[in-house]
Amino acid sequence: MKHTKIISITDIEKDAAALEEAGRIIRNGGLVVFPTETVYGIGANGLDADACRSIYTAKGRPSDNPLILTVPGKESVKEVAAVITPTAQKLLDAFWPGPLTIIFPRKANVPDAATGGLDTVALRCPAHDVCRAFLRCAGVPVAGPSANLSGRPSPTTAAEVAHDMDGRVDMIIDGGPCKIGVESTIVECNADDTVTILRPGGVTIDMLRQVVGHVCVDTSLVTGKGVPKAPGMKYRHYAPSAPMTSVVGPVEAVTAKISTLYKQFKAEGQVVGFLVSEEVAAHFPQENMYIWGRHGDKTALANQLYTGLLFFDTHTVDHILAEGTDSDGLGMAIMNRMKKASGGDIIII
Ligand code: TXA
Ligand code: MG
Repeated sequence: MKHTKIISITDIEKDAAALEEAGRIIRNGGLVVFPTETVYGIGANGLDADACRSIYTAKGRPSDNPLILTVPGKESVKEVAAVITPTAQKLLDAFWPGPLTIIFPRKANVPDAATGGLDTVALRCPAHDVCRAFLRCAGVPVAGPSANLSGRPSPTTAAEVAHDMDGRVDMIIDGGPCKIGVESTIVECNADDTVTILRPGGVTIDMLRQVVGHVCVDTSLVTGKGVPKAPGMKYRHYAPSAPMTSVVGPVEAVTAKISTLYKQFKAEGQVVGFLVSEEVAAHFPQENMYIWGRHGDKTALANQLYTGLLFFDTHTVDHILAEGTDSDGLGMAIMNRMKKASGGDIIII
């Protein structure tokens, strides 16, 4: 077991020495958890195969699931990407720093341990000052998957990180709660001026359409059939501690449906938890209740979703009844995660 040092950073200049220390840990092959605008990441030197392998051990992650390399700016892309196509350059200029991960052909300096043996590498530059200051101190691309144990919801606060990673990493940088709350959008650039979304996230399909010629979504995400192009999308993920049913629709209809389901579970002697909007919450017992925000507020739902799922770590229930949202805008990312968290048990009314 490692001794995990937890440091809280609010001021990059005042806390420069702590960030230098974090950078040194990375260069020496250690593990540092860092904040981003999406979720917390667990970082290692992305050019050091042994350091990358230690991420898989810390997370209990399958070794064919490649890591994203996190960099402090656009100028770092050419260090590890073999080609930057005009489409990729447009995306970099429009969305970096920000919640967009772009797949590039990789250079030979990127180890197989980082890419799961793929000939491509996923690159991301977070819109988070503490994160980018840490990345500059590290001086190398930092392999950075979400800082959860494999299969669990991703952490959006340092306390959630510590729950999964205390004793498994050398340092946790606490940069406060993550603003967005769901992971970055992952895209692949095709040979023409088109882009395929491999994982929906903070940058929406409409935002991408304003910048490139044509945007489509990896068909396996839409149909649920075939092998997803982002290897991580095939695994069960974001699993809360109890089975979950998600209901989507207008407030009254959602309330009625959840009420019916609640009565059924109660009649079977099951303890029910709720992960719903304020409007729906008002109709149910407040015990084992997590309210994510106002009905229809997708920013709030994205922001609170993982904390809401983790709430049921400490509130033991037999079944979770959740309220989702339509799939427009940020809703595509939210419902992709909810679908996984509920093993596909989604009711749309
Ligand atoms: O917002 C985020 O992207 C967060 C923060 C910490 O930066 N990171 C994150 O990493 O979500 P992770 O490892 O939990 O998810 C990365 C996803 C996985 O599904 C993985 O299979 C996919 O990216 N991926 C990585 N490299 C890839 C590649 N070369 N080709 C296709 N998919 C790739
Ligand atoms: Mg993850």
